[in-house]
Amino acid sequence: MRPPHLQGFLLVVICLGSYFGSSENNPFPDITDEKFINDCVRIHNDNRSSVNPPASNMLYMTWDEGLAVTARAWARHCVFEHNIYLRDVRRVHPVFSSVGENIWAGAPPSTFSVMKAMRLWVNEDQYYKYESNVCQQGKMCGHYTQVVWATSYKVGCAVQICPNGVDKTTFSGQIGAIFVCNYATAGNMNGMLPYQTGTACSACEGTNNQCQAKLCRNSERDKQKSYNWTPDWDPALTTCGSSCIAILANRFAALLLTFVTAFGVHRFYPSMFFYE
Ligand SMILES: *[C@@H]1O[C@H](CO)[C@@H](O)[C@H](O)[C@H]1NC(C)=O
Repeated sequence: MRPPHLQGFLLVVICLGSYFGSSENNPFPDITDEKFINDCVRIHNDNRSSVNPPASNMLYMTWDEGLAVTARAWARHCVFEHNIYLRDVRRVHPVFSSVGENIWAGAPPSTFSVMKAMRLWVNEDQYYKYESNVCQQGKMCGHYTQVVWATSYKVGCAVQICPNGVDKTTFSGQIGAIFVCNYATAGNMNGMLPYQTGTACSACEGTNNQCQAKLCRNSERDKQKSYNWTPDWDPALTTCGSSCIAILANRFAALLLTFVTAFGVHRFYPSMFFYE
């Protein structure tokens, strides 16, 4: 039996440890979450296959790990503005020549779903005129045209909770969420139309295309790649966020516990020793 006051102290240390351990409290899926990936990819492709007027060269979109890693790194900044590294493409992707981006932000975090964010982007189609390639004055169409940009065939998204709010929004004072999707190759290029119109898949890029739900599919293009790459500006590399603080606090508590235990054992059972 340990002396009772030592037992009480151990209990306090253990409780502190689990309190800090649970403080991360992130309600959102990670970028490796299968349902999250499927939702992002499926909704993009559903909207790409149903453009009006119909597209003749719309590529099927698949997930890209590198784009998702960059989306996550930027989402961690919790600021509602475009990634400042986008024009320096090697700092946002290991292989692609250009990367595009859409961002959604909201509060409270429960207002987020992939579907709701995407609906907001795609709803811009009401302001966009394909025939003249213009957006109604004072409106935004760029999120929509990126989603339906024919040659953007890879997407990677990330959603992040922002306990101190999303900066540069009207709701920056309250806990919020940010959702970032990055695209390759980038859409919204200087005055170009997002896609060509005509019979579905009649103008697919390259050879060996299959037509699925009016989208050009190609097994080589759709292949999943792994890059083992992280952008050098990812905040997770340099700063200590809430989960990192939780880990440090846990380690400190464990260390303290080790010393206290050793001290207590030594003090109350001076003749006993053991290895740790
Ligand atoms: C976009 O895709 C979603 C999910 O399939 C669908 O509910 C929505 O109606 C689509 N919107 C347009 C404009 O195609």
